Amino acid sequence: MSDWFETKSGLWDMTWAQLDLGVRDASHPCRLVSFSTVSADGLPESRNVVLRKAAADAKFCEVQTDTQSSKIESLKAHPHAALLWWVESLDLQIRMQCGVEILEGPSVDDDWAIVPPSSRVSYGTLPAPGTPIQGALDYEKPPVRERFCVLRCHLEHLDLIHLGRDHRRVAYTQARDWDGQWLSP
Ligand SMILES: Cc1cc2nc3c(=O)[nH]c(=O)nc-3n(C[C@H](O)[C@H](O)[C@H](O)COP(=O)(O)O)c2cc1C
Repeated sequence: MSDWFETKSGLWDMTWAQLDLGVRDASHPCRLVSFSTVSADGLPESRNVVLRKAAADAKFCEVQTDTQSSKIESLKAHPHAALLWWVESLDLQIRMQCGVEILEGPSVDDDWAIVPPSSRVSYGTLPAPGTPIQGALDYEKPPVRERFCVLRCHLEHLDLIHLGRDHRRVAYTQARDWDGQWLSP
């Protein structure tokens, strides 16, 4: 009987199980993900966002954001993102490269319906996020349904590193039918 980190399928399954825990448990380390994009002028940019969905079978993750945040302009220029997690208790780093689909309008009605009222104010800040303001609190946060969108991140490349007593690294791509390729760590 092998440990989960000794096989490519074990690492894959553990990764998606951890992401699923991150969606369901606000205190889990996968709850927050470092979400990196490339700006319209070609510069790298990262920010923390909350992981909202992890669909192992369909191989996508979802996060939610404001349509007027800068990352949307970046994604319209370069529709890709890199997602990064570190699960310290498992010595597991998870890195994804994804193609990002921006979902808006009626297709995200169900998602909006379960956003608590206290969180809806994250979508609608006036002036738009990143706009210079005179004083630190010179903004309003009305909930604006039309400003809510879901970023569906379709997996293109998954790179895992397990830093146990031995170090193991594996990459999965569609080109290899997600079978995984061991890499030198
Ligand atoms: C703990 C934490 C959770 C956050 N969650 C989200 C989120 O789920 N969605 C989001 O758009 N921004 C979230 N933010 C804010 C982003 O980090 C970022 O400041 C904001 O989205 C503007 O980024 P942008 O100008 O690069 O688009 C979160 C920030 C922190 C510190």
